[in-house]
Amino acid sequence: MSLIDDVLRDPAFQRLKSVVIGATGLAYYMDKDAAFAERIARRQDKRNFTGLSDYLAVLLKDGPAGPEFQALINELAVGETFFFRYAEQFEALRAVAIPECLRRNQASRTLRIWSAGCSIGPEAYTLEILLKQHFAAELEGWQVSIVGTDINGAFIEHAKRAAYGDWAMRGLSPETLSACFDREKDQWVVKPQYRTWTSFFQFNLVEGPLPSYTRGLGALDIVLCRNVMIYFDEAARVRLLQGLHDTLVNGGWLVVGHAETGQQMTPLYTPVPVPGATLYRKPEPAAQPAPPPAAVPDELPTLPPPARPRPTPEARRVPRREEPRSEESRAEAAPAAKTPPPGADLPDSLDRASALEACLARIEGDRLNPALHFQLGLLEEELGVGDAVAAFRRALYLDPGFALADYQLALAYWRRGKLTAAQRHFRNALDSVNGMDGDALVAEGGGLTVTELRSMIELWLSGEEG
Ligand SMILES: C[S@@+](CC[C@H](N)C(=O)[O-])C[C@H]1O[C@@H](n2cnc3c(N)ncnc32)[C@H](O)[C@@H]1O
Repeated sequence: MSLIDDVLRDPAFQRLKSVVIGATGLAYYMDKDAAFAERIARRQDKRNFTGLSDYLAVLLKDGPAGPEFQALINELAVGETFFFRYAEQFEALRAVAIPECLRRNQASRTLRIWSAGCSIGPEAYTLEILLKQHFAAELEGWQVSIVGTDINGAFIEHAKRAAYGDWAMRGLSPETLSACFDREKDQWVVKPQYRTWTSFFQFNLVEGPLPSYTRGLGALDIVLCRNVMIYFDEAARVRLLQGLHDTLVNGGWLVVGHAETGQQMTPLYTPVPVPGATLYRKPEPAAQPAPPPAAVPDELPTLPPPARPRPTPEARRVPRREEPRSEESRAEAAPAAKTPPPGADLPDSLDRASALEACLARIEGDRLNPALHFQLGLLEEELGVGDAVAAFRRALYLDPGFALADYQLALAYWRRGKLTAAQRHFRNALDSVNGMDGDALVAEGGGLTVTELRSMIELWLSGEEG
C-alpha cells in the first residue's frame, strides 16, 4: 500500500483537511481527497511523523504562520503568475482607474495599491513598471506604495528577491523586458529603479483582520486580488470581498480575476466595464447602488455595461479553478469568462449562438424594434460575428435617444481603434441621459440607472482625456 493510501485511510484525515481548509480558505481541496493526501504524503516523507493526529497537533501548535504549516501551504497553494497577466486589466487600470486616482488624490499626492495574494511578486512589480512607464511625470513628488502579500512565506521571499525564470516573463514585450530587467545567470531580475515603491509581507487573507492600518492595508486606492478567491468557498469569498471593500477608500478600485466575478460583488461594488475587462469600484457614499430591481430575475445574464452583473453561465456553475501545479510551471488555466450580452427577454437556457438565431428571427417579425437591433449588436460583438456596429447604428436610427446603444457603439468603435468615433458616441450617450432623472432606469440596461450610466461615460471620457 502506498503512503498516499495510508494518508487517505488515516482516521484523522478529514479532520486534518477541514482544519487546513479553515485556516487557509483553500476549499479547492474539499472534494479532492487524493490530491490533498498526495501533498500530505510529501510532507510525511520529509518529516516522518507517525500518524495524522500527530501531524495535526504539529500544525495546530504554531498555526498557519508556523514552519510546518507554511511548508504544507507551499505544497498546497497554486502560485501561477506572470508579469502583465491579463494585460487588458492593466490597460484598464492605465486608461481609467489610475488617471481617476491621480485626479482624486491631487491634494494628498499619495497613491496606495495592494496586490493581495501576490504569489512570487510579478503582479506588484507590473504595477510599478506600469506607473513608471506611463505616469512618471504626474507622480513626481508623490508618495506611492505598492504592497504585495501572500499566505505563503516562501513566495514572499521569492518576491523580495525579484528574480524570475523565463516562464514568468511570457507576458512581457521585448522592449519592457530589456528596459526593466537585468539578466543575471539564467534569471531575469527586476531593475532596482522598478523596485522602489514595492514591498512584500506575509498575510493570510482568511484570518485578516481587514482593514489593517498598522500593516498599510487600509485607505487603499486600488486593490488587485486576482486568482485567489477561485480556491475559496462561497463563505470565505463573501467575507474577503467585504474585507477588501473595507480597505478601499470611497471610489477606490478592485480588480479580480476573470473567473471571480459574480453575484457576491453586486451589493458592494459598482462594475465599470471597459473593453476586455471589468473593474469594480467602491461607490462614493452618495452613489450607493440601489438594490437590484425585483422584476429582474437573478438568472438573467449580464450585459455590458451592467449596473449589477449577474453571473455568467460559467460563473454560475462552480467557479473555474486552476489545477495546482508548481510555481512558474504551467500554462494559463483559467480563460476569461465572457460577459454575455443581455438578451433580456431571450430564454436564459439558450447558448449565445442560439440566442443570436432567436434574435434574428425576432427581428424578421419586428424589424422596427430598436431594442432587438441593440441586442443583436451585443450578441454579434460577443461572438465576433456579423456587424455589431451596423446593428447599434440601426438601433440608433430607429431611436436616436437610445443612450445605451450610443454607449455600446462607442465601445465597439473603441475596440476597433476608432477613438474619435468612440468619443462622439460617448458624448451622444451623455447628451441622451442629460436632463433625465438620475434614478430612472436606462432602456435595455437590466437595472442600470441614469446616474450609473452617466458616471461610466464620464469616466471613459475623462480616462481618455487623461
Ligand atoms: C494563482 S496565485 C495568483 C497570483 C496573482 N494574484 C496573479 O493573478 O497572477 C494565488 C495566490 O493566492 C495565495 N493564497 C491562497 N490562499 C491565500 C490566503 N488565505 N491568504 C493569502 N494568500 C493566499 C497563494 O499562495 C497564491 O500565491
